[in-house]
Amino acid sequence: MFSSVLFCIAGAFQFFPSIRRHHPTAHRLIGRAVAIAGCVAAISGLWMTLFFAFPDTLQGRPLFWVRIVLGVLMIGFIIGAVIAIRSRNVFQHSAAMLRAYAIGQGASTQTFVGISWIIFVGYEATGPARDGLMIGSWVINLLAAEIVIWTALRPANRSSKT
Ligand code: HEM
Repeated sequence: MFSSVLFCIAGAFQFFPSIRRHHPTAHRLIGRAVAIAGCVAAISGLWMTLFFAFPDTLQGRPLFWVRIVLGVLMIGFIIGAVIAIRSRNVFQHSAAMLRAYAIGQGASTQTFVGISWIIFVGYEATGPARDGLMIGSWVINLLAAEIVIWTALRPANRSSKT
């Protein structure tokens, strides 16, 4: 829980160009804490998925496997991002961190989508509908991340090298 909060809140500041430009040491140090927190959050998510007994109404096979794949991908993106910046590949670093962040922020979008469903449909989604909303929320986050990566983060579109 603490690692997810740290990843989601402190992680947001890592995307501020002003902090990176004027306080690169802060970006690096906060970045290392956020990277570790992100990996811990992903590992605890994998742990819960594998070892908690969820009824099918709360987690069907599709959601189970999507959680496994996204948990592993999140760790891979964070490690890949740190390796990329060590070879000064800022684009790959920022893109990988944004993809990891999109996965890590899944719960926020899932909450928003779940409440919207209750408002419009009148009851909480369970079973395949719930799996669909949970997975759909991650699709929304990852699509938004790709749009930002290929518009704002792409080197030609970014004002400086930081
Ligand atoms: C959640 C998002 C992010 C995290 C967790 C993060 C994390 C990190 C970490 C851990 C380092 C230091 C690597 C080392 O140990 O040497 C670093 C360096 C760096 N990051 Fe990020 N980063 C994030 C987003 C970004 C973004 C969006 C950009 C640029 C568009 C960026 C640009 C850089 C640069 C230029 C450095 C090198 C700083 C220096 O050595 O002077 N980072 N980041």
